[in-house]
Amino acid sequence: MNGTDRAARIEALLAEMNLDEKIGQLNMVSADLSVSGPGRRALPLADISAGLVGSVLNWWGARDTREIQRRAVEETRLGIPLFFGFDVIHGQRTIFPIPLAEAGAFDTTLWERTARVAAQEAAEDGLHLTFAPMLDVARDPRWGRIAETPGEDAFLGAAFADAKVRAFQNGDLSRNGNLAATAKHFVAYGLVNAGREYAQVDVSERALRDVYLPPFRAAVEAGAAAIMPAFTDIAGLPMHAHRELLFSLVRERWGFEGVFISDYSGIAELVNHGVAADLVEAAALALKAGVDIDMMGFAYLKGLPGALERGLVSMAEIDVCVRRVLGLKFALGLFDDPYRACAGDVPDFATRALRRALARESGARSIVLLKNRHDILPHDAGHGTLAVVGPLADARHDMLGPWCALGDQDESFALLDGLYGRWPREWILHAPGATIDTTDETMIESACAAARGADCVILCLGESRSMSGEAGSRADPSLPAAQLALAKAVMALEKPVVAILFGGRPLILPDWLVEASDALIAAWFPGSEAGHALADILTGVCNPSARLAATWPMAAGQIPIWFGQRPTGRPADAKEMYSSKYIDAPVEPRFAFGEGLSYTNFLLGDPQPDRAVLQRGETMSISVCITNAGSRRGRQTLFLFTRDPVASLSRPLLELKGFRQIDLDAGETGTVTFELAADDLAFTGCDLSSVLEDGCIEIHIGFSARRTSLRSAAIELKTSTDATA
Ligand code: GLC
Repeated sequence: MNGTDRAARIEALLAEMNLDEKIGQLNMVSADLSVSGPGRRALPLADISAGLVGSVLNWWGARDTREIQRRAVEETRLGIPLFFGFDVIHGQRTIFPIPLAEAGAFDTTLWERTARVAAQEAAEDGLHLTFAPMLDVARDPRWGRIAETPGEDAFLGAAFADAKVRAFQNGDLSRNGNLAATAKHFVAYGLVNAGREYAQVDVSERALRDVYLPPFRAAVEAGAAAIMPAFTDIAGLPMHAHRELLFSLVRERWGFEGVFISDYSGIAELVNHGVAADLVEAAALALKAGVDIDMMGFAYLKGLPGALERGLVSMAEIDVCVRRVLGLKFALGLFDDPYRACAGDVPDFATRALRRALARESGARSIVLLKNRHDILPHDAGHGTLAVVGPLADARHDMLGPWCALGDQDESFALLDGLYGRWPREWILHAPGATIDTTDETMIESACAAARGADCVILCLGESRSMSGEAGSRADPSLPAAQLALAKAVMALEKPVVAILFGGRPLILPDWLVEASDALIAAWFPGSEAGHALADILTGVCNPSARLAATWPMAAGQIPIWFGQRPTGRPADAKEMYSSKYIDAPVEPRFAFGEGLSYTNFLLGDPQPDRAVLQRGETMSISVCITNAGSRRGRQTLFLFTRDPVASLSRPLLELKGFRQIDLDAGETGTVTFELAADDLAFTGCDLSSVLEDGCIEIHIGFSARRTSLRSAAIELKTSTDATA
């Protein structure tokens, strides 16, 4: 069906619809197969049959979606089909690492591959749309939802957005195995005050444009079918009523033609925000801002008739939203075949095995090696006895992380499962030694007894999955005291210790734990194949290549902390009293953005720009040689940063403009080439327009944002093409 036919069919349908049916299309209700917000959740079957519901979330399964779809298609007056949405964030049944971990693979192809599998599995479960990718730039580990983000950087977030949206959707949304993507939560939700969930947000106009909007712009350019506004406000204006950003910017300037789907009761919550006296006003504000679908707020159902009567909205404005929702359903192919996703396709054994293999690969590619003293790792599989202690050693449930959709803990593998496959069981001494947040002398003694009897200790510490994700803000993002007590007792035995940290955020670690650990690994929540992925890393089957997508603070007081801060008038200098620093903590982070070790080591040459002057409109190349100076093949990620040392505004100390990966055999030298366009150096100027300014641009290439890892060059940016200028 071409666009003209579709538009004609939509107009014909609209002409037949009464007000209730129009509002029904704007009403999304939650079922109770999963809980993702407050309030009642039983499916309102009578409303569905009466045409008062346009879409459903938290309901899946070919048979079950077919029955609900049948009610909409066969029992309503006009037979308009529903669409079914769900939070398929990092997998549907096969669960991949949480986004904060997977972003650290810095591999767009991997991000696409996992999204494709997630889309296929979601489609097999009768789903049409996912409320993903989550694209909030996050620099505050107190915020539980940092787990769901691609980390602290706008460039990384934009690359992640592009890969995920294109892979979820895979072109034609009406084809089975493709899933409409929802870019969320628009915008700057990651800036909640003090890291507290749903708290107020204040952000400068320049940071909004240069940091928080770019990932969403990338999602729109990748063709995202939907966008979800954030629960939060910006400077007192809640996103669900933010017409200037939702309509003027995203729709008018960016050309977004998709659907805005509110967050869960986000429209009704405009009353709590204090910008609406009742649901009528809340509905009017959201509709005028361009929010098409009211998820579980019933604000449109209960408020729009009154808003119409009071003249707060017009029928034409309602029709605009209805047209967009009908347009999405046409794009999903639901008017041609409302039951197209209800086939109940069951993947064959080979497909399931391939999906598990990808979960194992992505798990290993997301696990970050942070320390490896005396190359204690990799550990020869099956050699020596291991004491595996800590509450997360056999925590299959927690390995799936927050938002794990239909991930089945009974079909997932914890570290212990992975090690049992490599060591004789009698050589693995397991003792939890603590729960997530409690311990006692008996538990600690059992863990110490295991450690005494072993050649090496694997200490599994961190967060449970319920400590992370939505409504998971922690004022103190440290390891629980009980686990620190266990770690201290075990480390006092002076056995070799490999500490593995699980969780959904950068954790605050005591110096003694980092110092006493021979090896330190950030495993995050690695997904269904966690145990096998970790065992592959620990035994060297897989050489670790993941890097940190978010900075790990040394102390909670440093938060928010990220690599792209501005220099200030008194740049941090440990030797200068009057400089930007603390008297009770360092300025440097525990681990920097991009850090992560390999079982080999790499040497980097100086960047070689292909020109000394970059003119407006041009694109330059910057090449750099890299050598694998170690004893085994490895993958290295290189980052391209720029610095604008003198501009009309104070500019960040580093800005990420590219990342590349290269696989090299031991002793092999390769060349990595970055492309840098003049336009990539634009920024939001004093008048909030995008500007490009003449002058020196520093080029820094390295293995992380740690300045000591960077090799540098400089070019001149010339914005005027007039040779005499
Ligand atoms: C939740 C989350 C959002 C999710 C939605 C539907 O409250 O904020 O990310 O997509 O509700 O479950």
